[in-house]
Amino acid sequence: MANSIDMAAQLAGQSLRFAWYFTLNRLLDWRSQQLGKAARYAPSRPVPTRQQLMAEQTELLLSDALAVRDGLYPPMDDDATPPLRHLERVGRMFADLPGTLDRRAHNEAMTARSEPGADQLPAYYAQDFHFQTGGYLSETSAKLYDVQVETLFMGAAGPMRRAALRPLGAFVNGQDQRRLHLLDVGCGTGRFLRQVRLAYPAMALKGLDLSPAYLAEARQHLGNLRAIQWIEAAAEHMPLADASVDVATAIFLYHELPSQVRRQVTAEIARVLRPGGLFVFVDSLQLGDRPSWDGLLESFPHRFHEPYYRGYISDDLDTMFARAGLAALTTRTPFLSKLMVRRKSEMAAPAPSEPSAAATLA
Ligand SMILES: C[S@@+](CC[C@H](N)C(=O)[O-])C[C@H]1O[C@@H](n2cnc3c(N)ncnc32)[C@H](O)[C@@H]1O
Repeated sequence: MANSIDMAAQLAGQSLRFAWYFTLNRLLDWRSQQLGKAARYAPSRPVPTRQQLMAEQTELLLSDALAVRDGLYPPMDDDATPPLRHLERVGRMFADLPGTLDRRAHNEAMTARSEPGADQLPAYYAQDFHFQTGGYLSETSAKLYDVQVETLFMGAAGPMRRAALRPLGAFVNGQDQRRLHLLDVGCGTGRFLRQVRLAYPAMALKGLDLSPAYLAEARQHLGNLRAIQWIEAAAEHMPLADASVDVATAIFLYHELPSQVRRQVTAEIARVLRPGGLFVFVDSLQLGDRPSWDGLLESFPHRFHEPYYRGYISDDLDTMFARAGLAALTTRTPFLSKLMVRRKSEMAAPAPSEPSAAATLA
């Protein structure tokens, strides 16, 4: 009974959330048109209708609510931002829009290079992803990121991340969570780790990211929940011992990496996972996952600065994971995301990396 009430509350909350972010999404489009800078790109591939998008989003929200009803994990609570601060951030997102659109119009994406410490970071990283002011390196960008992403996905970014809780729950089932170590690679502002912490209060959690500003936001976001270890480092050179982690997750990270770095990160994940450990991957759909949606993927990098996205959507992730010793369990495509669940083999000796792919940048 209690779970059914949780489920109903969750569905009501997610409906409100959808209505709010849908409104912001439309307002942002309207404002872009007013400024005379709406994105104009006509994809050559088919695009989904609004009804198809809504149907898939509804299915995602229902599946999340049913998991709550079935007691698989707690109701969604991925945003601890107080309402007034949230509204302030929404205001800042609109204030930042003219600058963002100007950069898009002139295809300039290098304000991140003038942020302190940018010269110490890999060149592929120090750019204005999504045309955000300061890329991943400014405090303002860290504060606006979640509002921007939820506005883009009409409130579905959180539920897409939460789809990773299901395979995690299946893995943890029957094990003592106090003995398990989970690492979220490219943890950003910590939205997913907050969900994991609420589901597993005693698990040892680590969040790794290259951005000090995003890690600071993540720390604040986790608030008074039990401490997490935050690691400021590159995912391709993780300062962690071999076989020291039971579960690794990577959420919306891979599409932002050049092809060669994607492979290095995969090898690192396979290295730090213990034999038998779990890898849960969530990222964008790829070309061919839903052929009638391919046009949406094609137009995405015309709207947002995503220098490696085109390479990502046609990358052979299955082979990349298999060659690193991460064997396939399941692959699903909730709404606009791709969820891949992999397991490091018990006697893992990773195969040599792919020769041709390692030589190219996407
Ligand atoms: C699109 S965001 C996703 C963040 C978070 N996982 C989420 O679900 O919202 C990508 C994140 O990956 C981080 N990142 C990108 N390249 C990285 C790298 N090579 N090493 C560590 N973090 C990286 C960025 O700083 C950013 O926080």
